[in-house]
Amino acid sequence: MTAHLDNHTVPSWDLFRKFTIEKRIAFFALDRHPVHILYARQFTRTFLDELYILTNKIRLIAKTNHGKSWLSTLLENRRVMLYFAQPSTRTFLSFATACETMGMRFYDVRSLETSSEMKGETFEDTIRTFSSYFDLVILRHATPNYAEHAAIVLNRSRRPIPLINAGSSKDEHPTQALLDIFTLRKSFEKLGGLSRKTVMLVGDLKRGRTVRSLAVLLAQFAPIHIIFCAPKELAIDDEIIAFLKDHNVTCTQTTDFEANLPKTDAVYMTRTQSEYTDAKSLASSSKAYHTAAYTLTQKHLNHLKPNSIIMHPLPRKNEIAREIDNDPRAMYWRQVRNGMWTRCALIAKIFNIEKKILDH
Ligand code: NCD
Repeated sequence: MTAHLDNHTVPSWDLFRKFTIEKRIAFFALDRHPVHILYARQFTRTFLDELYILTNKIRLIAKTNHGKSWLSTLLENRRVMLYFAQPSTRTFLSFATACETMGMRFYDVRSLETSSEMKGETFEDTIRTFSSYFDLVILRHATPNYAEHAAIVLNRSRRPIPLINAGSSKDEHPTQALLDIFTLRKSFEKLGGLSRKTVMLVGDLKRGRTVRSLAVLLAQFAPIHIIFCAPKELAIDDEIIAFLKDHNVTCTQTTDFEANLPKTDAVYMTRTQSEYTDAKSLASSSKAYHTAAYTLTQKHLNHLKPNSIIMHPLPRKNEIAREIDNDPRAMYWRQVRNGMWTRCALIAKIFNIEKKILDH
């Protein structure tokens, strides 16, 4: 175990970027302030269990108008910056509605075109500016490591405030993984829980940040079996497989979607991340993926166990046929709603109001 670093001596980004991933995670341990949510590997099983309980509680409180009004007093006077430099519908809206549920005012920059970064301002100065006005930054960016870099800038500023990574390049999408885990646990609550289940992750596993973060969180529920199903050119990184093996997760890798479907308790479909494909390889990777071989359609439903669930982080292209939307096993619209409650709970944890909510 790496010893925790002293938060008062925050390293420069140039120094920090040379740290091993273990040292980075130790530096951003969740019991330190301000809390930054950057990597799926930051979450312990205890944190996930607490978040699960808190998410359910917030959801329950919000069922009444009185409860909704009460929740909206908890973080009033706090301001949030939603800085989304990559397209987003659900993640943006679920964070916006979560902030509103908790009574926070939020402001957004949704395109670099409207930011002073366009005039040549450095990313560091932009982030530092946020720390002057806001109490929380929620960041989505296409540049690898920007979320960590921003967290270091915030820790070195005069007014350190927390940051949540809402999707960073191909690497990480920790809050999507949290809502996916919530959905899985909820679905299997009366079916013996998530452990010992078989989860199949399908599609662009090479560049899909949701699957990378989710695979890491699934390890917290070992023993568990993961099937990675993708065309060869979009297979998951060896580094994730090695991590899972170290954490007692059994994995198989396959290109055969149909043959593995009957073995699954949850099937998690994803789209081709073509925004990261250069023109040359675009043709081959999307051709490989957009074959019927990686699409879930009506004809597959009979091969799926009666209690299996179907997930997708969305947006979908053609990975799940629309006619499946009304099947009771389709969970992707529930994931969307669960995302809002999970993000409310995460914000509550960051601002240390968990006990107040649980006592309500
Ligand atoms: C995902 C993302 O942005 O990584 N979307 C989301 O946040 N729900 C998945 C995707 O874009 O394919």
